[in-house]
Amino acid sequence: MQKKDLKYISSGKAKDIYENSRETLLFEFTDRVTAFDGKKKSEYQEKGEITCKIAEYWFKILESNGIPTHYIECPTSTSMIVKRLDIIPVEVIWRNYAAGSLLRRYEAGDIILPDGVKPKEGSPIPNGMIEFTTKFEVVDRPVDKDEILANNWLSEEEIKYITDLTKRINDIISQELVISDIILADFKVEYGRTSDGKIILADEVGTPDGCRFWIKDDFEKGIITSLDKDVFRKDTGDLSQSYRDLFNKIQNTNV
Ligand code: TMP
Ligand code: ASP
Repeated sequence: MQKKDLKYISSGKAKDIYENSRETLLFEFTDRVTAFDGKKKSEYQEKGEITCKIAEYWFKILESNGIPTHYIECPTSTSMIVKRLDIIPVEVIWRNYAAGSLLRRYEAGDIILPDGVKPKEGSPIPNGMIEFTTKFEVVDRPVDKDEILANNWLSEEEIKYITDLTKRINDIISQELVISDIILADFKVEYGRTSDGKIILADEVGTPDGCRFWIKDDFEKGIITSLDKDVFRKDTGDLSQSYRDLFNKIQNTNV
């Protein structure tokens, strides 16, 4: 759905982006869902609204913990106004447990796992690990530090800054989830530069589109119950219901 009064800019997997002012954008969270580089697509009622509320929830918590973000406000239940940034063309992934593409790349013989990590979904990664992928290529491709530096996407100091910030985001969200008995298995974040050159958190954060969340009680029994997009990737249930369950658990209310 296009907003007639605002200039349409582009669409991501799940969001449509509009120009709100010279300095701000409006994100419209849609009910779209895609996985496997767009090969699998669908729509789920209320997904946009739940995802927008979850992103708003985490942006506020991160801001109150001193993480600089582009979040400004949510004018409606499915839209968010954010500061316009120069987006850094690198996606940042933090992993606390083995899952998803980490295991797929290991099985394909492309990578070795960090010390002590077993090739099994749910194997803990001691102290966590960070990975980077491209953002503006057709397929998100893992990139190492050398390629990031060679392309001038980030400097050595900026990689360090972003690594520290991502680790802090992981610690804040993981800690907040303890009371809800939810494990943050992994997540993806993006960063951008403000007009005065400051690097701040961009895109969305803490949503089940961009994180893996597992129910702790089940995990301790050896079962992985996902409250995130893996429900769609693996066809294990109703995505909107899982997203709603997640939101209810994290803030102990009903939506
Ligand atoms: P992966 O296992 O597919 O690499 O994903 C790791 C985490 O990052 C998972 O929570 C999903 C999230 N992610 C995105 O949100 N968008 C992406 O494009 C990628 C590659 C990962
Ligand atoms: N890069 C993957 C994709 O394009 C991430 C995901 O499944 O969300 O779908």
